[in-house]
Amino acid sequence: TVGRSTNILWQECPVGKLERQKMLGQKGCVIWITGLSGSGKSTMACALSRELYCRGYLTYLLDGDNVRHGLNKDLSFKPEDRVENIRRIGEVAKLFADAGIICIASLISPYRRDRDGCRALLPEATFIEVFMDMPLELCEARDPKGLYKLARAGKIKGFTGIDDPYEAPLNSEMVIRQKDGVCPSPAAMAEQVILYLEVNG
Ligand code: PPS
Repeated sequence: TVGRSTNILWQECPVGKLERQKMLGQKGCVIWITGLSGSGKSTMACALSRELYCRGYLTYLLDGDNVRHGLNKDLSFKPEDRVENIRRIGEVAKLFADAGIICIASLISPYRRDRDGCRALLPEATFIEVFMDMPLELCEARDPKGLYKLARAGKIKGFTGIDDPYEAPLNSEMVIRQKDGVCPSPAAMAEQVILYLEVNG
């Protein structure tokens, strides 16, 4: 087919995943943090990175904003470009996990089908979806980058939660939400994820 790779085989490497895991003393996995803009994804990702680092684990953070400065700088926020954004980050995360690294991917990833597609790339139980389940009103009130305001004023089209959908996960491994109207602290959120990782080996 024109535009697609053809006549390609799989090249095996003499050093395998188990050897890399042994060398690093850890297993690779993907922690996929999804949620609205302003829901605390980056706060969670940074707290988790720091906490895992302090405990001696090798992590790598793929932040949606940052990846759009390089690998994905050719992509807009049109639905088809978001699909491609999520697909590429899923593939990169898979490589990191295969390398033995705990890959933390933090991006809105608004469409369920695409997140599930990324999950399907990974071996069983190595894709941990963390849903930042914060109400739109809270995210909009926070508006850390002033983007909701621009979206409401019609200056940004297709903003997630305003005029582009966010499809909440149905079966994520973890949900982070407010308790009695209070958001958990970054340290408490990170702790919750680390507990999950420990319990699940
Ligand atoms: S996606 O939907 O997964 O492809 O988005 P992502 O790569 O995570 O990028 C989200 C950040 O881009 C900014 N931004 C927008 N977000 C949503 N909708 C529109 N139209 C948009 N335009 C720019 C915004 O700052 C997002 O960052 P976060 O950290 O989520 O607030």
